[in-house]
Amino acid sequence: ALLHNELAGDEVLVVSNREPYIHVKTPEGVEVRRPASGLVTAVEAVMRACSGTWIAHGAGNADRDVVDAHGRVPVPPGHSSYTLRRVWLSKEEEQGYYYGFANEGMWPLCHIAHVRPIFRSSDWEQYVAVNRRFADAVVAEARTEDPVVLVQDYHFALLPRMVRERLPRATIITFWHIPWPNSESFGICPWRAEILEGMLGSTILGFHTPLHRRNFMDTVDRYLETRIEEEASTISYGGKLTQVQSYPISIAWPEAEAQTDSVPACRAAIRRELGLAPDHLLGIGVDRLDYTKGILERFQAVERMLERYPEMVGRFTFVQIAAPSRSSLDEYQNFEARVRSLVQRINVRFGSGGYLPIVLKAEHHEHEAVNRYYRAAEVCMVTSLHDGMNLVAKEFIAARDDERGALVLSQFTGAAMELHAALIINPYHIEQGAEALYRGLMMPAAEQAERMRSMRMLVRDFNVYRWAGRMLHDAARLRQRERVMSKI
Ligand code: F6P
Repeated sequence: ALLHNELAGDEVLVVSNREPYIHVKTPEGVEVRRPASGLVTAVEAVMRACSGTWIAHGAGNADRDVVDAHGRVPVPPGHSSYTLRRVWLSKEEEQGYYYGFANEGMWPLCHIAHVRPIFRSSDWEQYVAVNRRFADAVVAEARTEDPVVLVQDYHFALLPRMVRERLPRATIITFWHIPWPNSESFGICPWRAEILEGMLGSTILGFHTPLHRRNFMDTVDRYLETRIEEEASTISYGGKLTQVQSYPISIAWPEAEAQTDSVPACRAAIRRELGLAPDHLLGIGVDRLDYTKGILERFQAVERMLERYPEMVGRFTFVQIAAPSRSSLDEYQNFEARVRSLVQRINVRFGSGGYLPIVLKAEHHEHEAVNRYYRAAEVCMVTSLHDGMNLVAKEFIAARDDERGALVLSQFTGAAMELHAALIINPYHIEQGAEALYRGLMMPAAEQAERMRSMRMLVRDFNVYRWAGRMLHDAARLRQRERVMSKI
């Protein structure tokens, strides 16, 4: 209802690199996969509620089997409520725009994980060209002159201006799903001015936290000639007004009936599958296999905990679900090798008989499978070295309708700004991680319930519809203000 009020019948177009559904041909027929992406988790819920068109890079190989007569795919499969329009990229485009500029350049530039960004002119050229291709797709898909265009993430920093030039009356809401660094760090990007100019084609520019909003304002102030109104949090550039705001992203709160298996059933089944005793203690981590997620530090904390509390050896297992990600890049291959060798070292050191302290499941898991682990575990560990929000933290909380379980959460996530009842740690401080893990495992039921209850209330109230609703509301106000100003 919130979204429908704000949209008042407007046409909605979403642009993201990652698509919400990947159709893949298998010997059994066409299989539908959901990618591991916080962005997709959040935006998909919004699109289900308000319909429209989602433009994304096609990643599967079964498009021909699923498109309609207009080249679009009705989704979600089975009960379609919006359409997916795929943009197909050549190998060179994908390499330069996605792997190169976005993931070897912008990703390490914006995350403080001490990985050096790589900027190549050839990647930049592809990034510009692909942003243009997606802007063309937006214009081609738009049925009205003033659609609401929701632009997602660092893959499309140039697209807002490109769309603005061709659809001047569009409402363009750009959301940056990753952190924004301080102005000095951002300044090393050779195309910093072009990126900022591109983003300022937006009506609304959203970040997860006030700190990242602040960093962006400072960056613009340092590298572009603009008029900044601090109080209103607006930037005026080339006659266009952009509102810059923080909008913490969230998840859709699950319906009560969405949980199919009870917590005791999940606990028992997962332990059985892993060959563990019914009272064996379990920790869970769920991430893409990415160097920003603090997976090495997390395993070191597990190791230190076993060292300090030897009674936990043989009694505790940490399950890490790690979805393969960007694996053609050297940095990701090296990272995976380091993760595997650390797991092996810890398992050799503390394992015996059939007992393994760390179980690494380095493959994609669908949400339902992940949910069973959330419900089966005593502790969930989110130890990102830097993260825009981190929706795993919020998903774990949503999964625990039994009000049990403890969340260990890195202070360098956007989620830590909201989830004060988690056990907040500095992931670089291994002893702190180890102590928090132990404390989570030993936490009395009443304390678990008290912490869970307060976090569950927060995530339920500040859900993803609020996130989108607030942006749409601010956009409507800004359009109104521009209309008034143009008459003066
Ligand atoms: O949230 C940040 C983000 O990079 C999204 O843009 C993306 O969909 C997700 O993480 C997963 O990464 P990728 O799409 O590169 O697999």
